[in-house]
Amino acid sequence: MPKKIKASDFGKEFIWGISTAAFQIEGAYKKHGKGLSIWDTFTMQKGNIHKNQTAKVSCDFYHRYKEDILLMKSLNIKNFRFSISWSRILPDGTGKVNQQGIKFYNNVIDFCLECKIKPWVTLYHWDLPHELQKQGGWTNRKILDWFEEYVKICASNFGNRVKHWMILNEPMVFTGGGYFLGIHAPGKKRMKNFLPAVHHAQLAQALGGRILKENIPDVIIGTTYSCSYIVPKNNSKRNKRAAKKVDALLNRLFIEPVLGLGYPTKDLPILKKLNPYILPGDIENSQFKFDFIGIQNYTREVVQHSYFIPYIGAKIIKAPKRGVGTTLMDWEVYPPSIYEMIRKYNSYKHIPNLIITENGAAFKDKFKKGKIQDKKRTKYLATYIEQVLKAKKEGLNIGGYFVWTLTDNFEWAEGYNPGFGLVHVDFDTQKRTIKSSGKWYKTFLKN
Ligand code: NOJ
Repeated sequence: MPKKIKASDFGKEFIWGISTAAFQIEGAYKKHGKGLSIWDTFTMQKGNIHKNQTAKVSCDFYHRYKEDILLMKSLNIKNFRFSISWSRILPDGTGKVNQQGIKFYNNVIDFCLECKIKPWVTLYHWDLPHELQKQGGWTNRKILDWFEEYVKICASNFGNRVKHWMILNEPMVFTGGGYFLGIHAPGKKRMKNFLPAVHHAQLAQALGGRILKENIPDVIIGTTYSCSYIVPKNNSKRNKRAAKKVDALLNRLFIEPVLGLGYPTKDLPILKKLNPYILPGDIENSQFKFDFIGIQNYTREVVQHSYFIPYIGAKIIKAPKRGVGTTLMDWEVYPPSIYEMIRKYNSYKHIPNLIITENGAAFKDKFKKGKIQDKKRTKYLATYIEQVLKAKKEGLNIGGYFVWTLTDNFEWAEGYNPGFGLVHVDFDTQKRTIKSSGKWYKTFLKN
C-alpha cells in the first residue's frame, strides 16, 4: 500500500467524484415510455454478451436513484458523473419527447443538488436509440441532425441546474468496438462502417459543445477519451513504428482534430481512407474549445509489429501473456500509466483543464462475515491516485479525478462478471454493501 495520501494533498480546488453510465446501471429498459437502445437490442441477441446477460434490470438505478445518491453522500462524494439515455428522452431517437424520461433526470438532478452533490452529465455513453441504428446510426451523416435535436432538448430541460457536461464518452471505443470489431453494439464490422462512424462522432463532439455553449449560460463543457500508455515491445525500429501507429489510433484520433491538428494521418496512413467522408468545412467544424478534456485510463499496452494485422501492421501483446499482474478485464495493473497519460495530454497546447473522468478496477470480490475486504481494488486506486499527485506536484495540468464506479454493474460484453464498484450489488435482492475500497475512498475524501 502506498504511503498515506489524502484528498487535501491535491488542494481545495481539485475535483473528486464518481462516474457511472445510464445503460450500465438504470435498468427499467422499457419503463415509462423509454424506447430501445442499440445496447438493449444487442444484449437480446444470443452470443453477444457473457452468459447472454442483459441490463433489463441491472442495478435498478431508475427506481433506486435516491438510495444510491444517499450512498454517495455517505461516502463524502461531491461530484456525480452519470449519462442520459437518449432513448429515454426520445424513444424514437427524434420527434416525440418522452416527458417521463425528462422527469426521471429532473428527479436525479434535483436529488443530487439536495444532497449537495454536483451533477456532471455525459450526453452520449454508447446507448444510441435503436430506431436511429435502423437508419445506419453513426455511419449516417444525418446523425448530426439527430444529435443536435437531442442535445438541444437536454440543454433546455436540464441546463438551468447542470453546469458540467460531457459530450461523448470514449468515441474510440464505441466506434472501434461497435462499428469495426463488432464486439459492442450495434455489432457492425469493417472499415466501411468504422470510418464514417469515426468522422461523424468527431463532428458530433464539437457540434454538441457549440450547442451547449449557445444554450446554457456559465456552462463548463468537456468530452471524454479512453487512453492507454503505449510502449513498444523493445527498441527495434519496427516495433517503435508499430507502437506509434497504435498510439495514433487509440490515443490521438479524436483529440487532435478537436484541437485543430487534424487526423493523425502521418503516423497512421490508413486514416487517409477517411477523406471521402470529409466534406468542405468539416475540418473547421471538428474544432471546439472545450473547457476540459476528460481522460479515462486503466492500463498500458505493449505493442509489437505484425504483418498479420490488416490496416495497421501492429498488435497488442495481451497482458496475461506478458506474465504481469492484471485485473479481471485482463488489463495490466500499471499505476504509472495514468501519470504518463497526464503528461501526454499536457503536451498539447490549449487544453484549459484535464480531468480524470474514469479510473478503477475489477477484481473478484468475496464476502467474509458479511464484509468485502477488496484490498486489491483499494491498492489499485491508491497507487493510481498517487501517480496523479505526482503529476500535480510536477506542475502538470490536472484538475480532478473520478472513480469508475459506484456500484458493480453491467460491464458491456463482459456482462456482470467484472465488478468495478466501490459498492457490491446482490443482483437477486438489489442489496448494496459498501466494500472496504468504498470506505477507504470515504476516509480519503474526508481528509
Ligand atoms: C470505460 C467506459 O466508459 C465504461 O462504460 C466502462 O465500464 C469502464 N471504462 C470499464 O471498462
